Amino acid sequence: MALTTEDIVARCEAAVQEATPALAVRDVLRQLVSEPSAVAAALGPVEAGGITPLHRSSDLTVLHVAWTPGIVLYPHNHLTWAVIGMYGGQEDNAFYRRRAAAGLEPAGGREVAAGEVLVLGDDVIHSVANSRREFAVALHVYGGDFFAPGRSEWDFETFEERPRDLERTRRVFEEANARWRAAP
Ligand SMILES: [Fe+2]
Repeated sequence: MALTTEDIVARCEAAVQEATPALAVRDVLRQLVSEPSAVAAALGPVEAGGITPLHRSSDLTVLHVAWTPGIVLYPHNHLTWAVIGMYGGQEDNAFYRRRAAAGLEPAGGREVAAGEVLVLGDDVIHSVANSRREFAVALHVYGGDFFAPGRSEWDFETFEERPRDLERTRRVFEEANARWRAAP
C-alpha cells in the first residue's frame, strides 16, 4: 500500500504518546526520509514554496514545508521541540542565542540535506535559508500547537525581538516564489 499523508500523521500521533516524544518522532522521520520518493508521492508535487499544515492539535503539529530556492526566513522560535526531516533539497539552519541585554548573537549552524533529520530543543532560535536552485522539501513536526500565539521572531538587520507574525512569514514565501518564477 502506498504511503499517504494520513499514514504520516498517524505515525507522528503514535510517536508523541511515547515516553520520549521528540526522539520517537525523530525515528519516524528517519524512517520516512529513507524513502524520499514515497514521501514525495504522498505529499504531491511542489510547485511553489509554502507551509501546509497536515495536522494541528495542542500536543502535535505536522507541517509540509517547501522552501523556495533563494528564500531566507528571519530568526524565530517555536517554544516546543521540533523535528525536521528532509526528503529533498537542503535546508541551511543558522542558530542564535539571546544576548543578556537584548537581541541575538549567532551561534553556529547546520545544513540538513535530503535523507537527514534534525531535532531542535524547545529553546532553539533559528533562521532558515535555501541556497540551492531546487525546492528544499521537508516534514516539520512540533510537540505543540505551532500556530498558537506567544512565539517570537527577530528582525534580521537589528536582531530586535517582536511577536511572531505568520502573515509576514507568508509574505516572505510569496516574495521568494515571485523571485524564483521570474528567475532566468
Ligand atoms: Fe522554525
